[in-house]
Amino acid sequence: MSRASSRQKLIEHLDEDLSRELKAIMLYLWCHSMAFGIRGHELREILGPEIPAEIKHVQFVADKIVAYGGIPSFSVPKIERPSTIRGMLEYALQVEKESVQAYTERADEACDLGETALQVKLEELITEETEHLEMLQRLVKGLTQEM
Ligand SMILES: [Fe+2]
Ligand SMILES: [Fe+2]
Repeated sequence: MSRASSRQKLIEHLDEDLSRELKAIMLYLWCHSMAFGIRGHELREILGPEIPAEIKHVQFVADKIVAYGGIPSFSVPKIERPSTIRGMLEYALQVEKESVQAYTERADEACDLGETALQVKLEELITEETEHLEMLQRLVKGLTQEM
């Protein structure tokens, strides 16, 4: 693949990342609004601060798309609407897993293109999303142990 088309692919993939970040935000907003009871209250306290963190990811990815000559689509995927705490946690876990996987691929693409600054920043995102993922794994594990 030529360098120009690799770069074009990178822009397209970053736009997919942008959509996934928007999906995470919509999901966290859904959970924050619809989590009830004691557990729901806990979930609100945990997920609430993650919303601005995910917005920062959106801003970063959108700025990178523009820096590479693209136009961010800001297309928001449809989200499922889980009604139980377990359903919310499991869906959030799935989305965070997708993020870690996608940013790992994106860091490799950035490396192949010699885009070191992007690669380093993507590796930071991998760290942050892995923290989210591990936190959610602990919460899901707790539910399994208790019920
Ligand atoms: Fe994110
Ligand atoms: Fe996340």
